Amino acid sequence: MATLALRDITKSFGATHVLHGVSLDVAEGEMIVIVGASGCGKSTLLRIVAGLETETSGAVVIGGQDVTGLEPADRDVAMVFQNYALYPHMSVFGNMAYGLKIRGLPKPEIERRVGEAARLLGIEALLERRPRQLSGGQRQRVAMGRAIVREPKLFLFDEPLSNLDAKLRVQMRAEIRRLQKRLGVTSLFVTHDQVEAMTLGDRLVVMHQGHAAQIATPMEIWAKPADTYVAGFIGSPAMNFIPATLGHGGHVATLAGGLALPMPGRMGTDGQGVTIGIRPEHLRPGMGGLEAVVELVEPLGSEAVLHARLADGSPLTARLPGILHGEGRLGLVLPLESLHIFDAASGRRLESAG
Ligand SMILES: Nc1ncnc2c1ncn2[C@@H]1O[C@H](COP(=O)(O)OP(=O)(O)OP(=O)(O)O)[C@@H](O)[C@H]1O
Ligand SMILES: [Mg+2]
Repeated sequence: MATLALRDITKSFGATHVLHGVSLDVAEGEMIVIVGASGCGKSTLLRIVAGLETETSGAVVIGGQDVTGLEPADRDVAMVFQNYALYPHMSVFGNMAYGLKIRGLPKPEIERRVGEAARLLGIEALLERRPRQLSGGQRQRVAMGRAIVREPKLFLFDEPLSNLDAKLRVQMRAEIRRLQKRLGVTSLFVTHDQVEAMTLGDRLVVMHQGHAAQIATPMEIWAKPADTYVAGFIGSPAMNFIPATLGHGGHVATLAGGLALPMPGRMGTDGQGVTIGIRPEHLRPGMGGLEAVVELVEPLGSEAVLHARLADGSPLTARLPGILHGEGRLGLVLPLESLHIFDAASGRRLESAG
């Protein structure tokens, strides 16, 4: 168990700049989930922490020790990959014991550690099997076991659940969460799945094109996204964005259709373009708000997702309780306390200046 600090990590592959200065402080025992779209640099960042990739600049500090430049084997971290990478010719026991044998641990110690990890993971009965005789979920447990027996300072997970079917994913996700809390090992978990991120992480790093767009708890990110990228990425269905212009000394935002929304305070200067964000679940049927034409209704049982269009043709999604929502015209109210206001030019979240 250890702290981890990333100090202004950059990485370029030739002329391709992949990471643009990522900094992060992780507390002992904390589970950090790195989430972002494909290609944003998640795996590259994780591999730099593991020592499998060399940073262009910056430093990695594990447990107060600067490990920049150290070989992977000297960093005391264990990585679990998407494809498990189990040795096909070895038994489950052999796979879990291999790293410890290489390090020359005595046999009784190896047996103790493998036995303990197998018990923890519920795979004691499988120790003699080969990987091909296991289900996907069981293989994933073996891959976890191999990381656990090393008793590392850090766990690094790179999309370890993406080869599993939806149901097993949910189950393994809960299992990893429980194990990580129980073992108390500081962990980085990479995923592009926002639900996985929200449910697993003590804190999330939302990455966007090689930057950390926001680092905060899942609820903070959901309630106060730092910019329109984070706002649109976290939450399902995605947040609606509506362009507007500030007036009345920055105290009112007026939409293209003429609807004037009082702001919680002075949000900027008159004439400034802003983006109003509203989550689909915060829209309510009613008059005096937006006029939308519902084009498609997705019933989800106790609620329904409505895909609609505003008069200017821009799309709007609403998630409403109840089942019977027909297509056609619908009035939707924007509760003022649920609005997110962003600067149209920079995309940054705006807070009221009084
Ligand atoms: N060895 C390499 N040489 C050149 N470019 C690379 C190399 N490794 C990664 N990249 C590029 O760096 C960018 C980030 O890659 P990375 O694998 O970190 O993304 P990711 O966020 O893990 O994506 P995914 O969700 O698809 O796994 C991509 O544009 C990728 O093409
Ligand atoms: Mg990746």
